[in-house]
Amino acid sequence: MLNITVLVSGGGTNLQAIINAINDGTVENARIGLVISSRADAYALKRAADAGIKTCVISRKECADIAGYEKKMLDALGGQDGSGTDLIVLAGFMTVLPEGIIKAYENRIINIHPSLIPSFCGKGYYGLKVHEEVLKRGVKLTGATVHFVDSGCDTGPIILQKAVEVLEDDTPETLQKRVMEQAEWKILPKAIDLIAKGRVKVTDNKTVIGGE
Ligand code: GAR
Repeated sequence: MLNITVLVSGGGTNLQAIINAINDGTVENARIGLVISSRADAYALKRAADAGIKTCVISRKECADIAGYEKKMLDALGGQDGSGTDLIVLAGFMTVLPEGIIKAYENRIINIHPSLIPSFCGKGYYGLKVHEEVLKRGVKLTGATVHFVDSGCDTGPIILQKAVEVLEDDTPETLQKRVMEQAEWKILPKAIDLIAKGRVKVTDNKTVIGGE
């Protein structure tokens, strides 16, 4: 059983998609042991509590320094039920993870990003900002990407991507909603299922999805 810790900062709709997929059997052989939020007021915490999942809040700002933050996070990640974390899922998590965590969990951290990487990603591209830039540039296709997290910003091996059409009358908000519904909430649970089944291998900064 893959023991997952989900890191959140906001509404938690991607967290909800994972919870639903585990409950309806779309994701097999995985459980969420813990949800860590960077903010005490994140609605994602209520979603986790409603699903009976353990939660905690760890804020970078409330730690004296990065080393203190890293230690607190590592303790929480290793501490759940004594069994530790097999996979960290960044589901709308808006804090940059310290190097020590990325090293300790190499190829065991995944992130959902609301564009087709390598477009509209990297420093400063997060949340609604991504969709604003997509509309500014006038691309006709956007989408979402699930990738492993390495020490760069949105540079790790890509696991799954799904394209979504941009419509003439889109606003950043309507586009964000459609990208979530048509892409994010589908490919994030799917990637977790593939990882739980041991089907995702990483070589040369690329992934290969093996057969069942
Ligand atoms: C999602 O659109 C996610 O892709 C994005 O934040 C939103 C969180 O929504 N993440 C990033 O931009 C990371 N660079 P949620 O809290 O409802 O899942």
